[in-house]
Amino acid sequence: MAYHHWAIGLFLLHIFYNNLCNCQSENYFDDSAPSPRSYTPDVGLLDFVYHNHDDMTRFLRTTSARYPNLTALYSIGKSIQGRDLWVIVVSSSPYEHMIGKPDVKYIANIHGNEAVGKELMLHLVQYFVTSYNTDPYIKWLLDNTRIHILPSLNPDGYAVSKEGTCDGGQGRYNARGFDLNRNFPDYFKQNTKREQPETDAVKEWISKIQFVLSGSLHGGALVASYPYDNTPNSMFQSYSSQPSLTPDDDVFKHLSLTYANNHAKMSRGVACKSATPSFENGITNGAAWYPLTGGMQDYNYVWYGCMEVTLEVSCCKFPPAHELRKYWEDNQLSLVKFLAEAHRGVQGFVMDTNGAPIERASLKIKGRDVGFQSTKYGEFWRILLPGIYKLEVFADGYAPREIDFMVIEQHPTLLNVTLQASKRNDGPYNNYRPVSAAQQHYRPQPEREQGFLSSISSGFNSLVSNIFG
Ligand SMILES: *[C@@H]1O[C@H](CO)[C@@H](O)[C@H](O)[C@H]1NC(C)=O
Ligand SMILES: *[C@@H]1O[C@H](CO)[C@@H](O)[C@H](O)[C@H]1NC(C)=O
Ligand SMILES: [Zn+2]
Repeated sequence: MAYHHWAIGLFLLHIFYNNLCNCQSENYFDDSAPSPRSYTPDVGLLDFVYHNHDDMTRFLRTTSARYPNLTALYSIGKSIQGRDLWVIVVSSSPYEHMIGKPDVKYIANIHGNEAVGKELMLHLVQYFVTSYNTDPYIKWLLDNTRIHILPSLNPDGYAVSKEGTCDGGQGRYNARGFDLNRNFPDYFKQNTKREQPETDAVKEWISKIQFVLSGSLHGGALVASYPYDNTPNSMFQSYSSQPSLTPDDDVFKHLSLTYANNHAKMSRGVACKSATPSFENGITNGAAWYPLTGGMQDYNYVWYGCMEVTLEVSCCKFPPAHELRKYWEDNQLSLVKFLAEAHRGVQGFVMDTNGAPIERASLKIKGRDVGFQSTKYGEFWRILLPGIYKLEVFADGYAPREIDFMVIEQHPTLLNVTLQASKRNDGPYNNYRPVSAAQQHYRPQPEREQGFLSSISSGFNSLVSNIFG
């Protein structure tokens, strides 16, 4: 009986929703959806060779000059040796955030000697700008998404890396010898590593732009690896590499599978070498592979609600240039389809009774205890799989709300939330809105891990990280 009520309710909601929302005439997540068209890279414009920092800079400058309506070039800071950390935006609105539409990003070459991702990023840019007028899928993506691409977060490391070197650590670290993917604040353990300019630049960047979805490109394995990378367990237990799952595990698995399944071979899960692990369906939880402290993906997710997945795209960290075309062909579809996932789930605005946006409202999907916040325009996004959910919203000075909503496969659910101002001293919700508690969902304090345990465990981490990607 109860089941019947749900089913009828769902059915009615579905009809209601489809009648209400003719906001997107095309569907992008069902079988009738258009697919990206086949594309032949123009090697006259961008050859399959490695680009050093100057060559890369020249390519980015030329592209942004040639496609002023589709691209914008900016730098988020400089490496220790003074190289710009370039970001190129590709979108039909490159200079301005499109209100209500998601910003997404790719970051490559955080490990300087993992070079394939960096070249994939340049080809992705080239693919986007040359396909906009001919491929309806790419046009839809760029009309509805701002895509920020940072091809090299570690240009100093890249400069001392060697083509043809598949393993090892030379060029992995920044110019002061820090592993940038161990240099972020950590959810589970105190990170005692000194902050580096490259990671500071990323922290500043993602504090200013609310990214919804992100991919971090690495090499040394072939797998999509999702949060958490770290684990609350002690380091002794972590030798056995237990999974450390987020409350959004279903979403992270789906995002990882989207990458792996659209890749030419990742989903086969074949081990790179006999001594390295194989990954079922080409995906893994980060900590289940090997736990690490200070990784970028956990930071994106816990601090900013940005769903980031680590994409390990090549068994060889720095393969010979003549293999680059093959890597591009293997990854092209994955790189596009992954970003389109930013359009799955729920999105909307939080506003007051006058329709004015409420910034920094704290939002949570009930049962998923990692929250996110509204932007200065009151916008929010959350990637969710089809289902029924409850959104919890609270903002200082307003009565909190809980709203039921449904997510369907074909297009995102649009959900506007209006909050009533709460009375100052006698409101019923006074106990219910401690600001610090709301903030804690969003920016949890790290658990302390001190003394010799932490030094042993970081030694273990760097040992493992030299073996893996
Ligand atoms: C860019 O857009 C403007 C306004 O829509 C148009 O006039 C101009 O021709 C476009 N430029 C290029 C290079 O496409
Ligand atoms: C939600 O609010 C935004 C911003 O005020 C508005 O543009 C949009 O039409 C609203 N959507 C719905 C479905 O009410
Ligand atoms: Zn790596």
